Amino acid sequence: MTIEELRGQFDREAAEATSPQAWKSLRDRWLARDSGIISGQMRRMRELNPQERPAFGKAINALRDHVSQKLEKALAAAKAVPGPGEALDVTRPCFPYPTGHEHPIRNLQREIERVFVSMGFQVFDLPEIEEDYNNFESLNMPEDHPARDAQDTFYLGGTRLLRTHCSTVQVHAMKRGRPPIRAVSTGQVYRRDPFDATHSPMFFQVDVLVVDRGISLAHLKGNLEVFLKQIFHPEIRMRFRPGYFPFVEPGAEVDISCIFCFGAGCKICKQSGWIEILGAGMVHPKVLRMGGIDDAEYSGFAWGMGIDRVAILKYGVDDIRLFFENDLRFLEQF
Ligand code: DAH
Repeated sequence: MTIEELRGQFDREAAEATSPQAWKSLRDRWLARDSGIISGQMRRMRELNPQERPAFGKAINALRDHVSQKLEKALAAAKAVPGPGEALDVTRPCFPYPTGHEHPIRNLQREIERVFVSMGFQVFDLPEIEEDYNNFESLNMPEDHPARDAQDTFYLGGTRLLRTHCSTVQVHAMKRGRPPIRAVSTGQVYRRDPFDATHSPMFFQVDVLVVDRGISLAHLKGNLEVFLKQIFHPEIRMRFRPGYFPFVEPGAEVDISCIFCFGAGCKICKQSGWIEILGAGMVHPKVLRMGGIDDAEYSGFAWGMGIDRVAILKYGVDDIRLFFENDLRFLEQF
C-alpha cells in the first residue's frame, strides 16, 4: 500500500468512528509506538535504498501528523459532549432557583380568613363587579345618598359598578343563608381616589357579618377583641367612638392602642396613643329586612376594615404604593 492509499484508508475509518471509544481504538491502531500502522511503515524505511528514503520519510511524517491531529481534535470534541448516561446527573446540587411567594397583602388576607375560619365563620368569595343594589341600596344607601357620588365610585354603565367596599358580604350572606349567619369576606375594592402615599384607587378590605337571635354590642366587642389580639398583639386594647355608617345603628369607629408606643404617644399615633382602625356597628333593621330577615326576631353586628392599613401598621411601611408597585426589592423582604 502506498502512503497515499494509507491516508485514504485512515480517513474512511475516521469518518466511521463516532464515539470516544472508537476514536481511542483508532489511535491505538494507527499511532501505537510498536504495533501501530505508522510505526510499521517507519520500519519499512530500512528496506528502501538510500535515495528513496528522504521522500518516503517526509511522506510518512506528514501522514503521522495528519492522523494524530485529526484524532486529537476528535477526542477533545468528544470530551466536551457528555457521553451516553452522562447527560443528566440527577444527584448534582442545583443552583438556587429564585421562587416567588405570596404578596404580603394576600398573605395577610389569608391570615385574617384563617382567624375567622377558626371561629366557625363561612368565607365568602364575592364579585368585584357589583350591582348598584348590592353595593349601596341593600346597605341603606338610597339613590340620593352622597356615598354614591360618581366622584367616588367607578361606574361601569347600566346598574354595574366596581364595589366600593366589602360590606356587600351582608346582602350576599343574607341572600344565601338563614340565621345564624357568621360570614366574612376579603378582597379588592375600588374608589376614585388619587394614588399617593395614603390612598390608592384599589385597595383591600375585610368585612364581617353576624346575625342571630340576641346578638348585642357585647358580641361585636368580643369578636373584635379576639380578632385584633390575634392580628396585632395579645396586649392590644381598643375603644369605640360613635361613628356614622348608613347600614349600622348604632355605628362606631374603633381605635386600637398604638402598636408602636403601646399607648404612650408617638409620631405614628400623633401623640394620642390610639390608632383608628375600623368601622363597626349593629346591623340596621332596614338592612336586615331587605335581606329578608325579621328584625323583631334577629339582630346582628357588622364591621369592616382596610387590610392595606393593617399591613402598613404591622410592617411599619409608610407608603401604600410600595404594596402595589411590584418592586421585587421591596416584596422580597416579606
Ligand atoms: N364599609 C365601610 C367602609 O368601607 C366600613 C364599615 C363600617 C363596614 C362599618 C362595616 C361597618 O361593616 O359596620 O368604609
